[in-house]
Amino acid sequence: MQPLQTNVPSLRGAIHVPGDKSISHRAVMLGAIAEGTTTIANFLPGEDCLSTIDCFRKMGVAITQNGTDVVVEGKGIDGLQEPNDILNVGNSGTTTRLLLGILAACPFHACLIGDASIAKRPMARVTKPLTMMGAHIDGREGGNYTPLAIRGGNLRPIQYESPVASAQVKSAILLAGLFTEGTTTVKEPSKSRDHTERMVRLFGGEVVVDGLTVSISGKQTLKAADVYVPGDISSAAFFLVAGAIVPNSEIVLKNVGLNPTRTGIIDVLEQMGAELSIENVRNEETEPIGDLTIRTSNLKATEIGGALIPRLIDEIPIIALLATQADGTTVIKDAAELKVKETNRIDTVVTELKKFGADIEATDDGMIIRGKTPLTADNLAVDSHGDHRIGMMLAIAACVTNGSMSLQGAEAIAVSYPTFFNHLQALIGQ
Ligand code: S3P
Repeated sequence: MQPLQTNVPSLRGAIHVPGDKSISHRAVMLGAIAEGTTTIANFLPGEDCLSTIDCFRKMGVAITQNGTDVVVEGKGIDGLQEPNDILNVGNSGTTTRLLLGILAACPFHACLIGDASIAKRPMARVTKPLTMMGAHIDGREGGNYTPLAIRGGNLRPIQYESPVASAQVKSAILLAGLFTEGTTTVKEPSKSRDHTERMVRLFGGEVVVDGLTVSISGKQTLKAADVYVPGDISSAAFFLVAGAIVPNSEIVLKNVGLNPTRTGIIDVLEQMGAELSIENVRNEETEPIGDLTIRTSNLKATEIGGALIPRLIDEIPIIALLATQADGTTVIKDAAELKVKETNRIDTVVTELKKFGADIEATDDGMIIRGKTPLTADNLAVDSHGDHRIGMMLAIAACVTNGSMSLQGAEAIAVSYPTFFNHLQALIGQ
């Protein structure tokens, strides 16, 4: 049980949030299947990305990781080896789904297992198209849940229309397509994050993007690259919201990734009237980066739905907190995907925020939040439910809560932001 600091008078200072989780995973994976030595700077040494490194080591890839510096000795597209141990994906959905895409193309057997949360997350969304391509996958409930066993190889290309806007689905199919003779195509209902597309190009490969359709031709050779991982906007989001809602605050967040498929949180903050400025934008062709400054703001409610949802899906827990501190009724809809994240985030957000005074209601595909409400706690225990983003949201909520509270399951935060509490403490202290 970790005590949380409540009633924080101000948050001031500058921080570098850690590297982007999505990009860190992809840099290891593409480095492993490229030819030559890939270097990764500002890698996220969170538990999820360490799970990816561990899985590739078990397939014979030499990877050295020293804090945020990683070197991957690429094996080439056909060089991965049959693992003689189970591949443990831990809590990481991205590891599971993208790895399945690569394993689908490998002519050997592998077993994947993860933690209790992974065992509840639907995998048919990737095992179905990968099976259509020719992979043999089995698992609980017809290959929908871990543990999964896969034997790949000898794939044929598909033209796949995904029912969900999911970068994990899109990326799994594109990675399998990289090893498949012919052109593989994925169409999605709205645009999800495009880090795989951008990184395949950085490694010298070719991907064709036409609106919501992405195509890749197979048997391309990827060449090792030097990757700089921008700060994770999904981690920055906690401090963007904290800076907006805690009194007397000004926080500068340096080197934050500003890929337009990820910046929905910035659009929402602007719509709600936040005092946010963006400076020093650079690196636009690969992965754009900039510096963000947020100040205490007078906030008004907003509506969030449609094509905006995939651009901020991981930020919805912290946006829900933001909405409790805004005047009016905020409606979040078209977000049923929240139910299949690390926890059912509609349930966990609503349950936890209600405990200390939020006026929040779950709907079938999102939530309705009425603000502005004071938050108060009397020796209250809140719970991350083992979900890193719920844990961080609750720690930020505590900053604007009167009373005392503590967090159960704080260790989950190490999945994506191992230095979260150090950064929070540094901002409180200044
Ligand atoms: C991710 C895609 C998103 C996101 C997850 C990371 C990725 O999931 O929620 O945290 O790195 O591709 P979906 O593809 O399921 O939307």
